[in-house]
Amino acid sequence: MSKTKCVGILTSGGDAPGMNAAIRAVTRSAIYNGLEVKGIYRGYKGMITDEIVPFKTSNVSNIIQQGGTILKTARCKEFMDPAGRQTAYEIIQKHGIDSLVVIGGDGSLTGARIFAQEFNLPIIGVPGTIDNDLYGTDRTIGYDTALNTVMDAVDKIRDTATSHERLFFIEIMGRDAGFLALNGAIASGAEAAIIPEIFTEVDQLEDLIKNGFRKSKNSSIVLVAESEITGGAMGMAERVKKEYPEYDVRVTILGHLQRGGSPTASDRILASRMGAASIDALLEDQRNVMIGIQNDQIIYTPFSKAIKNDKPIDRNLLNMLRVLSI
Ligand code: F6P
Repeated sequence: MSKTKCVGILTSGGDAPGMNAAIRAVTRSAIYNGLEVKGIYRGYKGMITDEIVPFKTSNVSNIIQQGGTILKTARCKEFMDPAGRQTAYEIIQKHGIDSLVVIGGDGSLTGARIFAQEFNLPIIGVPGTIDNDLYGTDRTIGYDTALNTVMDAVDKIRDTATSHERLFFIEIMGRDAGFLALNGAIASGAEAAIIPEIFTEVDQLEDLIKNGFRKSKNSSIVLVAESEITGGAMGMAERVKKEYPEYDVRVTILGHLQRGGSPTASDRILASRMGAASIDALLEDQRNVMIGIQNDQIIYTPFSKAIKNDKPIDRNLLNMLRVLSI
């Protein structure tokens, strides 16, 4: 029999569409299984500042369709400090919380791993980030919605790019991962994607220009993954202005609009499955694992593996993008 009686749930790091669907699933699965649930506001910060309230099924009514996170989120510096974590532990103990479900990305799971080890607390991670950069799952919650947002935005930019016969560099979020930029480029029929995973191996811009990517076209759109490695869309545009002044270049940085909006059906289903699976995991006495989905099956990956390993990007997709953009 599992020792879990009271689950604390929090969202941490950058918000992602579908986090609410996950909160709903965790809460309702826990209550269905006879567990108590406590909502922790503002991520790890809320454990230190004591922003913890009991959750009933009604606390998560009517949220599956909402973007953002009803629990709010934060990036918490105090939690990086052992004294901050000690306070957090004392406060959750006071609330009777004996296990945690943490919904968030890489940084959030790193915090979870340290906290779990220090206090011998069962923690289950649910991958919520638009970046899709966590090892141990094919998809992260929020990625599909963000991808659709990127596609819609690029479709709109295409109209003006074509009218003015311009070259656009569009900067896409992803921190140091190119999943959104690459698949956003494929979905929107962009000419190319410049991504950090291969940036140091090939001069993607030179490659693009040499291949005469604009020969038969009256507009060109290149998606550039944000990252210090690529230098972002501004960096690319500056290079083109200097090295290839014949192009009329413009830059769009999509920014935080990529994080907003009502989650797609795919993200709602993913979040519901992962949220429910996190409670199954606790009931099976699993601890310190991240829930993932691979080949449509729920799997568990230890935090140490999920955080440490880079999720590989499929290079065949880059080649395909090149073929399809001739
Ligand atoms: O991790 C999600 C993400 O949106 C990244 O794509 C981006 O680099 C970062 O968060 C932005 O963070 P913030 O909202 O703190 O500026």
